[in-house]
Amino acid sequence: MAATGVFLWAAARKVKKMSDDWNTRTKLVHGGTARSQYNEVSEAIFLTQGFVYETAEQAEARFIEAGPDEFIYARYGNPTVAMFERRIAALEGAEDAFATASGMAAVSAALMAMLRSGDHVVAARALFGSCLYVLEEILSRYGVEVTFVDGPDLAQWQAALRPDTKAVFFETIANPTLEVVDIAAVAKLAHGVGATVLVDNVFATPVFSDAIAQGADVVIYSATKHIDGQGRALGGVILGTKEFIRGTVEPYMKHTGGSMSPFTAWIMLKGLETIDLRVRAQAASALALSEALQGHEKLNRAIYPGHPTHPQNELIKRQMGKGGTVLSLDISGGQAAAFRFLNGLKIVLISNNLGDAKSIVTHPATTTHQRLGEDQRAALGITPGLVRLSVGIEDEGDLIRDVMQALDAV
Ligand SMILES: Cc1ncc(COP(=O)(O)O)c(C=O)c1O
Repeated sequence: MAATGVFLWAAARKVKKMSDDWNTRTKLVHGGTARSQYNEVSEAIFLTQGFVYETAEQAEARFIEAGPDEFIYARYGNPTVAMFERRIAALEGAEDAFATASGMAAVSAALMAMLRSGDHVVAARALFGSCLYVLEEILSRYGVEVTFVDGPDLAQWQAALRPDTKAVFFETIANPTLEVVDIAAVAKLAHGVGATVLVDNVFATPVFSDAIAQGADVVIYSATKHIDGQGRALGGVILGTKEFIRGTVEPYMKHTGGSMSPFTAWIMLKGLETIDLRVRAQAASALALSEALQGHEKLNRAIYPGHPTHPQNELIKRQMGKGGTVLSLDISGGQAAAFRFLNGLKIVLISNNLGDAKSIVTHPATTTHQRLGEDQRAALGITPGLVRLSVGIEDEGDLIRDVMQALDAV
């Protein structure tokens, strides 16, 4: 390589070609890596918004059509962001991915990029508050009609789907009620009318996801959750076919600007290296905690999709094998009892993220789902006593002791 002093990314980069026979943990450590002429071990952070062209002709050619490793402007793409997109696409088994500034940028862009005025959408009713706001308040302003259904009820999906339904949208495990939607069954119905199936897969996590194989066309993550997993950065990602990502999402993102920053992409790449280890440990502790809490006298219910008492436990085993990293506890005694529980915890933090290495507890009725009226919360099963517990990677015994002592104080 010539030491020209000019950064020759395409000429200099050394890429270990990702092999189809690499297993998940190998893909998570090496997938998507592209090295500069310095042959660095850790992925380089290309903290640049622009790229220099060697000639005016090269600039013109790149604006006509940029190759996969030819960059123009960081709003369109950046080498560090591209590494993240390739690594998460390899994990998910998706053809391509587009990284966004937050999970909500991913949800709103995936929907807005593909929908037009006059289109119809069917969505599950039980959604994270901001997802509900996009579907209920924003899409309707642009002439998109949305019908809401109870996610687990296939008859309601069937009844709501129409010939003009362009998209269906649901959280595969709903926040915070942990209802599970049958991806394969809903996809079969939706594909019957030619609708695109978009899933918000945050609670399933990329580690346990098999959403594309089961029929989802587009998979969306808030990377803020398990992908970072260490509370550092907001991010999101949209995964799907090359045609959807490059033909539909990329032009929308290019012109509306919610792309991921290179520094965030670097954090997310580092998060992906350890996600499998973290999330499997978190899910094992969540199951142990749910077992310890069954029948507890201070609880109306301990909800965990991975526990045999969950009404959709068979579905979750088929759909993702494990129950994820989040439990919801319905504490008897309403909000006052729930607040006493939160305030009594010594290890688990009161916050509103999830999927973090640190265990986090949230009271949805007064925080993430506060905007909804009491009736709407009641219809969704978000009772005043419901708390959401995201299990971290702390020692399992310490966590169980902390939750038990806080329940004693209720
Ligand atoms: C299910 C779900 N979808 C989307 C989001 C939004 O993600 P972000 O906070 O990264 O915008 C969240 C965040 O809490 C979520 O729980």
